[in-house]
Amino acid sequence: MTNPFDDRARSWDDDSRRRRMTAGIFDALCRRIPLQPDWNILDYGAGTGLLTLALAPRIRHATAVDSSPGMLAVLAEKARSAGVANIEIRPGDFQTDPPPPGPFHLVVSAMTLHHVRDVEAVLNTFFRLLAPAGRLAVADLEEEDGTFHSTPHNVHHLGFNRCILARQIAEAGFEAVEFTAAAESEKNGRRYPLFLATARRPA
Ligand SMILES: C[S@@+](CC[C@H](N)C(=O)[O-])C[C@H]1O[C@@H](n2cnc3c(N)ncnc32)[C@H](O)[C@@H]1O
Repeated sequence: MTNPFDDRARSWDDDSRRRRMTAGIFDALCRRIPLQPDWNILDYGAGTGLLTLALAPRIRHATAVDSSPGMLAVLAEKARSAGVANIEIRPGDFQTDPPPPGPFHLVVSAMTLHHVRDVEAVLNTFFRLLAPAGRLAVADLEEEDGTFHSTPHNVHHLGFNRCILARQIAEAGFEAVEFTAAAESEKNGRRYPLFLATARRPA
């Protein structure tokens, strides 16, 4: 079966709203989590690397995981042409594939969790992959009415209720779970707010 993101990969970055949204997520993340130059990070659902490539100059190494080989191929080309050498690219879906070896200092995931059927399982994997005191940063849609996606391929959640997701993050073992407004996505004349959830694996 083809992955619908493969078909959209080549034109993904053309949409300036996506680039604006990623800039908002990046700013919110940097306000919440002081990135360190010796960190190894994981970006889950990295796509074409809009966020990975923004983070890469601030950290030691990034592992970009995504279930769409097409999206990752675009990321690989962008990294190569920008001379960015500290990103490892790995196709995968943590619901079915083994994760890369950790530990990581930070796991980030932007606009991917609503495409993941088993959120709890993936949060548990994030927890296991983090070093003690490692940080989690997840950006996604606030609860929406189903109008965000015009083609609901692989959409398993219509955004997230903050209270429910906060409980799931805490049940995975994280502490210091906090939410902040991160960005907005504009579509069809409507605005869809995004949150950034941050948390920490206990030391
Ligand atoms: C909406 S895009 C976001 C991409 C990127 N994070 C960004 O902000 O531009 C969602 C990404 O998650 C990936 N994805 C969807 N389900 C996934 C899963 N179960 N495991 C890993 N990646 C997944 C898709 O291939 C796609 O690249």
